[in-house]
Amino acid sequence: MLSSKIIATGSYLPQKILTNSDLEKIVETTDAWILERTGIKQRHIAAEGELTSDIATFAAKKALEKSGLKASEIDLIILATTTPDLTFPASATTVQDKLGAKNAFAFDIQAVCSGFIFALAIADNFIKSGQVKNALVIGAETLSRIVDWKDRNTCVLFGDGAGAVLLQATEEGNRGIIATSLHSDGSLNDLLKTSGGPSSNQKSGFIEMAGKEVFKHAVDKMTKSVLSALNKAGLTIKDVDLLVPHQANLRILNAVATRLELPEEKVILTVQNHANTSAASIPLALDHANQNGKIKKDDVVVLEALGGGLTWGSVVVRW
Ligand SMILES: CC(C)(COP(=O)(O)OP(=O)(O)OC[C@H]1O[C@@H](n2cnc3c(N)ncnc32)[C@H](O)[C@@H]1OP(=O)(O)O)[C@@H](O)C(=O)NCCC(=O)NCCS
Repeated sequence: MLSSKIIATGSYLPQKILTNSDLEKIVETTDAWILERTGIKQRHIAAEGELTSDIATFAAKKALEKSGLKASEIDLIILATTTPDLTFPASATTVQDKLGAKNAFAFDIQAVCSGFIFALAIADNFIKSGQVKNALVIGAETLSRIVDWKDRNTCVLFGDGAGAVLLQATEEGNRGIIATSLHSDGSLNDLLKTSGGPSSNQKSGFIEMAGKEVFKHAVDKMTKSVLSALNKAGLTIKDVDLLVPHQANLRILNAVATRLELPEEKVILTVQNHANTSAASIPLALDHANQNGKIKKDDVVVLEALGGGLTWGSVVVRW
């Protein structure tokens, strides 16, 4: 039986850093308020002309280098993003071209902050069914382009970045992605959305969010989805070596960890350095953990996210 092993990770953060103190000059806020309510200290902002496909390509190249694979060996590229370069074509095809991955087929998926989880699950199914051997899964966002920089309720929360993983088919039994749990509830669309879109007003719109409501759903739904994915894998929370959550807000991450009774040292936190980068946040945090030697062979690593839709889900990986 085939499963999908993560053979390499990579990530990229744009050079420009916007600190909380910088934001004090843009909206009525304080470093202390942002830090206390979100844990965020700074976010990275893509340079003018730097596109989602550019930063996605940087992250993908790093993962490729570490994997030892050639771009021509990639069979599938999935880019999870809410901020594509253009309405169409899919930015994944632009990344394909920038990488020179001529033998791949490429497409974008859009599940907002859960995008990377959904993309991993899709790639996993292509691999399990034997249709694909090497899959590149990327989460990349230039959210700064759809943030309303006059709205202090949202502009302090988001940033730009990209992360990527290379999945490879393996017959090594119970290794790689061992369970996934995906969910959505469209009746909760209004809690987190943009004020525009091609079909409604021909604009990309700005992020709008009912923060308190999203917070409550995030804690409840991410906790349940982690437990459901672990259950599918035949594991319990005691088997988990590392939780790599969507990096939205420190208070959400802590609340989920407390409910799961997971000690602090098992939870990867990078939100302080790059804020909420939507679909990019999990692969950014995963690459950070991987590069810092926090993940060992055979470790059980759980990824989880919630985002607009609402969409939410978890992936259990045996490293
Ligand atoms: C957005 C969030 C940080 C706000 O924290 P909160 O504790 O719920 O704060 P509230 O919304 O109650 O706002 C408290 C006050 O702070 C004010 N406030 C909001 N943003 C502020 C800012 N950047 N600086 C200073 N004050 C701010 C509000 O206007 C409100 O003032 P009021 O009491 O005079 O009306 C929090 O709701 C949150 O994290 N939600 C989830 C966000 C998220 O992660 N979404 C993405 C999931 S994918």
